Formats: sequence, C-alpha cells, structure tokens
Amino acid sequence: MTTTSHVLRAIRGPALTFVDDPFVVGGPGSARYEPDALIVFGDGRITDFGDHAAVASRLPPGVPVTTYRDALILPGFIDAHVHYPQTPIIGAYGRQLLDWLDRYTFPAELRFADPAYAREVARAFLRECLRCGTTSAAVFCTVHSASVDVFFEEAQRIGARMIAGKVLMDRNAPDGLVDTAQSGYDESKSLLRRWHGRGRLACAITPRFAATSSDAQLDAAGALWREFPGAYVQSHVSENTAEVEWVRTLFPERAGYLDVYGHPGLLGRRAIYGHGIHLTEDELARCHETGTAIAHCPTSNLFLGSGFLDIGRLARAERPVRVGLATDLGAGTSFSLLRTMGEAYKVGQARGAALDAWRAFWLATRGAARALDLDGVVGSLEPGCEADFVVLDLRSTPLIDFRMKHCGSLEEALFVQMTLADDRATRATWIAGDPVYDRDRSVPFAPALA
Ligand code: GUN
Ligand code: ZN
Repeated sequence: MTTTSHVLRAIRGPALTFVDDPFVVGGPGSARYEPDALIVFGDGRITDFGDHAAVASRLPPGVPVTTYRDALILPGFIDAHVHYPQTPIIGAYGRQLLDWLDRYTFPAELRFADPAYAREVARAFLRECLRCGTTSAAVFCTVHSASVDVFFEEAQRIGARMIAGKVLMDRNAPDGLVDTAQSGYDESKSLLRRWHGRGRLACAITPRFAATSSDAQLDAAGALWREFPGAYVQSHVSENTAEVEWVRTLFPERAGYLDVYGHPGLLGRRAIYGHGIHLTEDELARCHETGTAIAHCPTSNLFLGSGFLDIGRLARAERPVRVGLATDLGAGTSFSLLRTMGEAYKVGQARGAALDAWRAFWLATRGAARALDLDGVVGSLEPGCEADFVVLDLRSTPLIDFRMKHCGSLEEALFVQMTLADDRATRATWIAGDPVYDRDRSVPFAPALA
C-alpha cells in the first residue's frame, strides 16, 4: 500500500452538490447529482468526486470505501445562526421576542457562569448537531468568556468548523449578564487571540442586538473588527416589530435599525445578522452593497410570531443579499435543517413565494457557506472542500418510505425530505473525513462525544 492510499478514504452512494446559485440560474441547472458517486478524501479534504466508475479507475488500491445505499450524500448542513446556551430552553412557552428573552433566555444564560454546566450543554448541543447532519454553525455563546472556551474546546475535539463568539451586552439585561464596553472588548480580544483561526475555529464579535448594547459598546465592537478584519460579526436585526420600535427610540439619531450597526462599522463581508424580516428596501440595498448576510430563521420566526421573511425580496436580482438558513434555537424549534427547510417553504408561501427544493437545500449548504464567506471551504462536494458530509436515509419513516414510492423525480424526493423528514433521516455524519455519527451503531457518536 502506498502512503497516499493509506491516508485516503472514500464514501460511495448517490450524492448531490450545488455548482451554482439556484436563485440566479434556477433549479436543476444549479445542482450536480451523481446517482452513484465516489467521494475520495484525505487530510480532511475532498480530493476527488464524481461518477463511481470514473473516480474508481483513478483510485489507488487499498483505499477503504464506505457504501451507503438508498441514501443521499450531501455536504454537511450549515446552520448560519444558533444559540447553543438555549438548548435547555428550546420549546419554552413564550409570548413574543422581548418577553421570551426576559422570562426564559436571560435566566437560562445566567447559568453559564459555571463552565462545567456550559460544557455539559455544549456537548449536548454538538451531539444534536451531529444527529441532524449539521457540521458547521455560527454560534452565539453567552456573555461569559468561558462559555466560548468550552464550546471551542468541545468543537475542536470533533474537528468541526465552527464560528462562535462571546455575547456583548452592557445594558437592558440582568446584572449577572452584563459586561461593559471595555470588558466586552478586552474579553472578545483575548478570545480572538486564543481561538481565531486555530484549526477550523473562528471567532465572531457578537453584540447580542442593538437594544442590549450602548453606543460605546457598538463602537468598541467596530474597532475590534478593524483590528481583526478576518473575524466575523454576528447579531440580530429587525426580527420583531416591537423590537424595531424599541431600537428606534434607543438610537433616534440613526437612520434605522441597520444603521445602528452600520454607523460603528459593523456591516460587511463576514457580518451575519439573524432575521431581517422587517428591513426596508434601503436597508436591503445596504446589505447587498456591504456584503452583509442575513440568517433566515423560519422556525424561530413562527414560534415567536415575529413575522414572515420575504426571501424572494432578499434575492432580488438587481441587489441580491447573501442568505443562509438557520435554526436560531432555542427560539427555533428544531436542530434539523431539513425541518427548517420545510418551515422556510411555509414561510415563503405566506409571502406568496414557494421555496423550491433546490433553493432550500442550497440555503442549508452552499448558500449558507457563501453567507459565512466560506464558499470553496465547506458546503460543497467539489475537490478542495473540507470533507464534511451528511448521509440522508431517504426512507427514514414508514410514511416517507411509502411516499418515496410515488416520487417521480429527484426534485420531488428532495421536497418530500424537507417536508416530512427530520433527525431520523441522518444515517451518518462525517467531519473532516472522520465518521463522527452513525445512527445505526450501538454507540452512534465518535469517542469525543460518546
Ligand atoms: N434578539 C436578541 N437576542 C435574541 C435571542 O437570543 N434570540 C432571538 N431569536 N432573538 C434575539
Ligand atoms: Zn438568534
């Protein structure tokens, strides 16, 4: 056996990846489907991908191949906006955003002063991600620096590409959850020095939202981003009408909600804002011009009654805004990006735009990668990309099995999955070329999370 073949591995089965943006080129032309694909990878990256017969003919001898039948191999799902500390309060009865934050979210986040508790939740969160085939995410931690340290430590143990940040809040939050403009800056900077660019980890400067940060804190966040331009910024914008109104009264001198972030320099590539439901036309144009991305969080928006994002409006050809799909749990109600795609379809329907399967799967893979400025890194099966995969069982429940017998096309099969399937459909998850979750094993998780 040669050295090369020793480090290579491969998986075989039907596979789908995106070669173009379905919002631009339309459905089927955006996707590459291989009914019998061989995907070869080594050192965490894909080295070859294509029809089995062609790829196998150039495969060195002795490369182990894992075959998945009746399945669909996709690039690992990407969650563009999620709060790991809210895992313990997913599904908590709340009224709307501001009430829900006060009653459930802030009390839950206070517990993260204890790093052992934070680690326990981080591990539960990562296990759920793997059970749903999510291999990358942009993650909010809490105001406590240690909540970021333990999250990165656990993510590093499974090799996942994760973006995360310490939440900045210096007002309008309980005592135990506030920092100051200076301490938030200092702690974020020290996290950036400790973690940013270490392996597959990246830091996000994370003002929670305009209402919980003073002008001074937002200015400090902007200054920090200028010092670390390769870092990310993440926050929330225009999620709920009462929130939009509150922000208007807190920042009367700004042109609008988005401008509260624009003024201190917090818009641009690698800035991702959750929701954006109520953004104006001018604000969407500014997102487009600056490369600022919106994370679409349909299950959260339905759960909190925040409204219905008009994704067709965001995608408008003359000024497309980068969009990634996101769970936003614990306001979101599922870790599953399949479930999230299904709800995105329904939210689209409420705005008179039915999201087709191509666009939905794009938003959870390569579209999200583009929103996170990771195109060519994750979200695709093309050689050079990192070897993160989700293997879907296309017959994961009796109903889906029955329904699949009546599917006449790949598009229909994909749509059935996003409408009916959930975590049970995750047959296996691979991260950086390692199998980290296998639904059908007696111990499904890799040792780091077992
Ligand atoms: N706005 C500010 N904080 C939050 C949060 O934790 N969840 C959601 N959905 N919106 C927010
Ligand atoms: Zn959120």
